[in-house]
Amino acid sequence: MDKFIIKGGRKLKGVVEISGSKNASLPILMATLLTDEPCVVSRVPDLRDIRTTIEILKELGKNVNYNNGVVTVRAKRKLKTAVSHDLVKQMRASFWVAGPLLARFKKAVIPLPGGCAIGVRPVDIHIKGFEKFGVKISMEKGNIVVKAKNLKPAKIILSFPSVGATLNLMMCASLINGTTVLENVAREPEVEDVIKALRSMGADIIIDEKGRIIIKGRAKLGGMNHTVIADRIETGTYILAAAATRGDVLLNNCAPEHNEILLDYLRDAGFNVEIDESSVRICCRSKKINPVNIKTAPFPGFATDLQAPWMSLMCLCAGSADVSEDIFENRFMHAPELIRMGANIVIDRNTAQIIGVKNFGPAVVMASDLRGGAALVIAGLCAKGKSEVERIYHIDRGYENMEKKLSALGASIKRFNPAA
Ligand code: EPZ
Repeated sequence: MDKFIIKGGRKLKGVVEISGSKNASLPILMATLLTDEPCVVSRVPDLRDIRTTIEILKELGKNVNYNNGVVTVRAKRKLKTAVSHDLVKQMRASFWVAGPLLARFKKAVIPLPGGCAIGVRPVDIHIKGFEKFGVKISMEKGNIVVKAKNLKPAKIILSFPSVGATLNLMMCASLINGTTVLENVAREPEVEDVIKALRSMGADIIIDEKGRIIIKGRAKLGGMNHTVIADRIETGTYILAAAATRGDVLLNNCAPEHNEILLDYLRDAGFNVEIDESSVRICCRSKKINPVNIKTAPFPGFATDLQAPWMSLMCLCAGSADVSEDIFENRFMHAPELIRMGANIVIDRNTAQIIGVKNFGPAVVMASDLRGGAALVIAGLCAKGKSEVERIYHIDRGYENMEKKLSALGASIKRFNPAA
């Protein structure tokens, strides 16, 4: 298994180009199941989760080509409606093919999803929504089987603004005859990007003044030619890596408006943040990092996916700071590893109480999820000496060329495969 070997203690300096968004690319690729027409999706990052999604599309019967960030999806044969466990277990978002498959074939068989071990992560909100469309749900041999004689439009109030449920239900409704209204939906930029992609396929979707998603189902959707938005979580991670190492970094090709709350908190923490239409520059105002408390929340609140990298920064604050995780119930797995690197963190239920230390110390640590892994890399970049971050296959799920991008910013970070 690959690991990173990091010789930390260097300030990150320079320019980094931000990749396309993983969490927008995944559902947009799945939306290609809604049509037999050719679809071209550009700026798709080369990541493990993207490769898994491409394998799922191929398994279902699509012809998929991935070249230099451009994914071309064409019809090959009649689509299958079942996905194999081997693929689904690698990525929780695999369950999102249920909506498009249901819409087209009134049936889908999906193994219970896997993915990062950051909580129970049920799919009950998706299921309750499908039921309102007239879908019957059953469990057969570890698979969720969703079936309908006829799909009908519905008014659905989500019990929580789940990103995945919003996407799954919206994709399904785009081919259900009649008007579907989704309330209490996720408003993450990735959801808006999926709406844009669906509209380019001919879907009739609007967000009304109350923030509801209104979908007038079409009989058929066409192909798409869509360019994915910048990855706001990758953006935030590099911003936080630059801040923690007290560096000076310009991030290009990003969308600063998608990271507003993070940038505000960084200003409060004492950093200089300059924004342009599609770039952010972050640098230090003083050596001291002010403590800032955060609570994760659905967009436009503080992103749960940036909670772990933020925690690495706050471990170095002058004082004490609280980090509360209100989206996932088990998303502090990075904390014990940060403590092994010298951090002072006490976990009390969903809140991490952090007392800042001068710096991290080098250590051998293990990533146990994607964003937690990124937090350990940030700590390794700060610690003077040699650190190792093991199990970086988690990091490879969501960060394109991380070691190359960090090396270009002056970090000493190398990928090492002990078996090679
Ligand atoms: C998406 O996951 C993202 N994944 C996650 O990013 C992100 O952390 C999350 O949204 C929240 O922003 C992708 O886009 C591929 P949710 P998703 O449904 O859709 C509970 C990353 O690091 N819930 O909004 O799975 C759930 O357990 C990943 O890139 C239910 O209870 O998130 C969680 O506590 C990790 N029942 C909360 O809602 C349901 O049916 C938010 O989940 C669905 C969700």
